[in-house]
Amino acid sequence: RGTRDKEVDYSSSGRGTRVRVLGRVHRARKQKDVLFITLRDGYGYLQCVLTGPLAKTYDAITLTLESSIEITGEMWEVPPGAHAPNDRELHADFFRIQKTWKAAGGEDAITTRIQPDTDHSVLMNLRHLTLRGDVASSIMFVRDAVEFAFHKVYMDKSIRKVSPPALVQTQVEGGATLFKFDYYGETAFLTQSSQLYLETCLPSMGDVYCIEKSFRAEKSLTRRHLSEYTHVEAELDFITFDDLLDHLEDTIVKVLEVTMSSPTIAGYVQALNPEFKMPERPFKRMRYTEAIDWLRDHDVLNEEGLPHTFGDDIAEAAERKMTDEINRPIFLTHFPVEIKAFYMQKDKDDLRVTESVDCLMPGVGEIVGGSMRMDDYDELMAAFKRHEIDPAPYYWYTDQRKYGSSPHGGYGLGLERFLAWLCKQHTVRDCCLYPRYMGRCTP
Ligand code: 4AD
Ligand code: MG
Repeated sequence: RGTRDKEVDYSSSGRGTRVRVLGRVHRARKQKDVLFITLRDGYGYLQCVLTGPLAKTYDAITLTLESSIEITGEMWEVPPGAHAPNDRELHADFFRIQKTWKAAGGEDAITTRIQPDTDHSVLMNLRHLTLRGDVASSIMFVRDAVEFAFHKVYMDKSIRKVSPPALVQTQVEGGATLFKFDYYGETAFLTQSSQLYLETCLPSMGDVYCIEKSFRAEKSLTRRHLSEYTHVEAELDFITFDDLLDHLEDTIVKVLEVTMSSPTIAGYVQALNPEFKMPERPFKRMRYTEAIDWLRDHDVLNEEGLPHTFGDDIAEAAERKMTDEINRPIFLTHFPVEIKAFYMQKDKDDLRVTESVDCLMPGVGEIVGGSMRMDDYDELMAAFKRHEIDPAPYYWYTDQRKYGSSPHGGYGLGLERFLAWLCKQHTVRDCCLYPRYMGRCTP
């Protein structure tokens, strides 16, 4: 690997294969009269060695990091004791930097603009450049692989992909986090979740999923909230709550297996998260009431500074403390009706709670929220009323309960949170190409 010249096998041990490579100067180091360049092209890294007159040319002497470069030469194995990516190096006999290819130097050099102690917000302004770094780019490669794995696993499960709209006139997860905008004189919102639209697909398409953007006006800065995030959502027809949990566990594990089946991607994960190991099945299943007991037993207080009691929201910090201590994936189930969304089905055996699940991962906490859906028309109408939501704009959703309702359920997984767990990142912001959060809408 190492260039776009795909027919050349750089891993073959034979000395002398002639190649022409194109890429960016990732690193450069001069040792006596020899110039070592680590070339980067998005497919790998290749050490290139410039010797003799080549190393003394004007372009070699004034070489700047991140310049684009074309190099031709022969592939050699590195001498014993020396190190290079894949133990190969390119002995150059020609190189060229076109006029427009040179990266700025001096005051404007990338290394001047990005220093080890550069302020976080300045780094975020320079995201287009920090993305060129090893860590940022390897997270993006893992992200690509994970997204592909979801598509593959859903396809293998015969779940069909659909693309619901982003511009909507209904809320899903509460009015407080809606982004509102003017839609030709009408009020509209950026979607918080595609769930309601997925539900409308079940009668004709069977089980469905989507990987779309969701938007939340989160008016606080946390390490796991974005204003725009990638939401993996699925909806399954004629299931029980236990089916939902089994499906979710199987999907998460299979997605990890597909992702890690690529040695390159597994290598990135290993480098980012050396302690990573496949989660053990079955995942721990814990009812909300058990979590409340756990928090009380461990003296973790609620947001008012009091011991947790039934009905309390389990805040981010408390949730993470519990998850970190238990240190394995948890399906937290059966949340009280009062703290959950209007559409959630009640548990027939305990009407105070819902058939709901959050999947919690160490280091991050909640990465998935899901539930069975209320399938009775009258009950759903009563829920709208209780939540003080006008049901009129939801006519297309409530119609599902008029024309062949069914026991069904689904979930949404935050891709950036899944990645923050898999790649052991402190914040979801680093698991996103160009993160959006309160105060940041650029670059
Ligand atoms: O728990 P949430 O709000 O559930 C729903 O939206 C359901 N309607 C999904 C469904 O059943 N189809 O969000 C689901 C997941 C969360 O568990 C979290 O991983 C992620 O979406 N999420 C966010 N990720 C980043 N930034 C935010 N502001 C997020 N809000 C939710
Ligand atoms: Mg949630």
